[in-house]
Amino acid sequence: MKDFKSKYGPWAVVAGASEGLGEAFARDIASRGINVYLIARREEKLKELTGIIQHDYKVQAQYRKVDLSDPGQIKDFFSQLDVDAGLVVYNAAYAPVGRFAELPAEDPEKIVDVNVRGPVLVAQLVSARMKKRGSGGIVLMSSLAGTQGSPKIATYAATKAFNTTFAEGLWKELKPMGIDVLASCAGAILTPGYKNTQHQKPAPGTLTPEQVAAKTLNALGKGPVTVPGTVNKLARWFMGRILPRRWAINLMHQQTKKL
Ligand SMILES: NC(=O)c1ccc[n+]([C@@H]2O[C@H](COP(=O)([O-])OP(=O)(O)OC[C@H]3O[C@@H](n4cnc5c(N)ncnc54)[C@H](OP(=O)(O)O)[C@@H]3O)[C@@H](O)[C@H]2O)c1
Repeated sequence: MKDFKSKYGPWAVVAGASEGLGEAFARDIASRGINVYLIARREEKLKELTGIIQHDYKVQAQYRKVDLSDPGQIKDFFSQLDVDAGLVVYNAAYAPVGRFAELPAEDPEKIVDVNVRGPVLVAQLVSARMKKRGSGGIVLMSSLAGTQGSPKIATYAATKAFNTTFAEGLWKELKPMGIDVLASCAGAILTPGYKNTQHQKPAPGTLTPEQVAAKTLNALGKGPVTVPGTVNKLARWFMGRILPRRWAINLMHQQTKKL
């Protein structure tokens, strides 16, 4: 804990922090003695969580309303950020479910904005700052959905594949500058977002947001990619390495067609 705080403190930014996994990241980071800056769109939720974190973990907490689909708002936030952020977690994602040709017209672009342009821009802005301070950590939330093509969430899944590959490249490149980069390829997590899309009992290997946050933060600095949970590790190996690609897509479709 002490090492984590000295390496990644004194402040962390959690992007997409108002509920679910983002909230769990904020709480876990605060429990390690690091101050947290929470960003998302719903101000009321951020305000409430900021108060809870200050009270429960005795660290400083701040929040700001930022729409991560808007690059202007991301640039404004980081250019005005007046705390020393040694850790940034990009948790936010947009993940509408539906056949690609039937999605609302604005959806595919918005998925790319929040899930690809957002993390690229955030990584660009924070890595420059972290390079100057000579240390830091960047966590990008990815997903097992990105291991193969995933019908009905095709764009979302592809953005998650992007995040994993992006983090792998940055991991190697930024390591000599003292910056740790990690993609966390999660399986199902019991977040409000997941519960909204499920009409069946949770998939095998489903974890709580608290479990995923803790396992992800514990893996930071130990490699480019982590897969929280044993069942999920096996699933990634089987779908990504063992099955022919076409079979993996078909198997994924068996699950996603129920969404
Ligand atoms: N849930 C799963 O089963 C699962 C599985 C694998 C991977 N993941 C990954 O884990 C991460 C979190 O999972 P989740 O989707 O279930 O969500 P979540 O943790 O329940 O919440 C998503 C957070 O992102 C914020 N957000 C969404 N769009 C935003 C925007 N345009 N600007 C700013 N903030 C935004 C939301 O806040 P506001 O609405 O207040 O803006 C919320 O705080 C995602 O990256 C997802 O891909 C999830």
